[in-house]
Amino acid sequence: SRPRSRRKVLLMGRSGAGKTSMRSIIFANYVPRETRRLGVTMDVEHSQIRFLGDLMLSLWDCGGQDVFLDSYLDAQRENIFSEVQLLIYVFDIMSTDVERDWYYFSRVVDCLRNSSAGAKIYCLFHKVDLVPEHQRQAVVEERKRRLKEALTDSLFSVECFATSIWDETLYKAWSFMICGLIPQLSKLDGALSKFCETCEGDEVVLFERATFLVISHATLHSHSDVHRFEKISNIVKRFKLSCNKNQSHFHSLELRNSQFLAIIENFTCYTCVLYVSYHPHVQSTAVKLNIQCAKTLFE
Ligand code: GTP
Repeated sequence: SRPRSRRKVLLMGRSGAGKTSMRSIIFANYVPRETRRLGVTMDVEHSQIRFLGDLMLSLWDCGGQDVFLDSYLDAQRENIFSEVQLLIYVFDIMSTDVERDWYYFSRVVDCLRNSSAGAKIYCLFHKVDLVPEHQRQAVVEERKRRLKEALTDSLFSVECFATSIWDETLYKAWSFMICGLIPQLSKLDGALSKFCETCEGDEVVLFERATFLVISHATLHSHSDVHRFEKISNIVKRFKLSCNKNQSHFHSLELRNSQFLAIIENFTCYTCVLYVSYHPHVQSTAVKLNIQCAKTLFE
């Protein structure tokens, strides 16, 4: 069936910031070390990505060399900035050419404001793995302060994330950004809560099957590790990829110890589900049956 919603997403930022690396890991099954072989992006690389069946992401990875950025802001302006729903602007947090970084960012925001007034903007301060851990928070706060200054006369509100391809921050940011584009997300949230309750789960999480981005979760108790879903995305996606390399396909994974049962299983055509229970006597066969029965509610 044809997807009902199409969303234009601009991925912009200066050359070497890490745009194509992120795109390749999330949408094209690269592992982080493979991104070292990526060449510079010449002009714009377009990809059409079907997400959850109903959503088509039209992702414009805009090569970031100055010559290309100048052209987007001038000759290609109307083509690039019209009908945009989402701008993801990537800064290399280690960049030494900070003034020029902010110059281009401000100009991109101006063009977007003129051509796509309703677009949402996210800024990623990327490659944070290269900042020593004890300095990370201060460096990110300083960048956020500069961001506010750069946007003083702008009507746009901007959300930011500190990201790295080497850990779960990448999944956290992309899950959040892409979830904002999913039509009728609240319906999925409601169905997942009901499923969690009916199956007496303590936590249930829905992942998009190809990217392993987190789409929705239902949680009964608060949990100290707020990054646990993205860690699971990162780990399970890598496991799936290693299965594929060995000519086998991921179907389901079950973990049990004396305290919990966790099952991760392919769910609908477009999703995977994680079910967690701390109930000592819960039977995995019963959970799996319930997962099968619940599918139709999510298709
Ligand atoms: P253009 O195509 O020229 O616009 O560049 P780009 O923004 O697409 O950069 P690209 O993704 O090609 O990445 C440039 C380099 O940065 C690659 O060698 C990546 O391996 C590296 N890189 C990307 N993300 C990270 C990160 O989070 N941490 C570190 N340390 N390196 C990264």
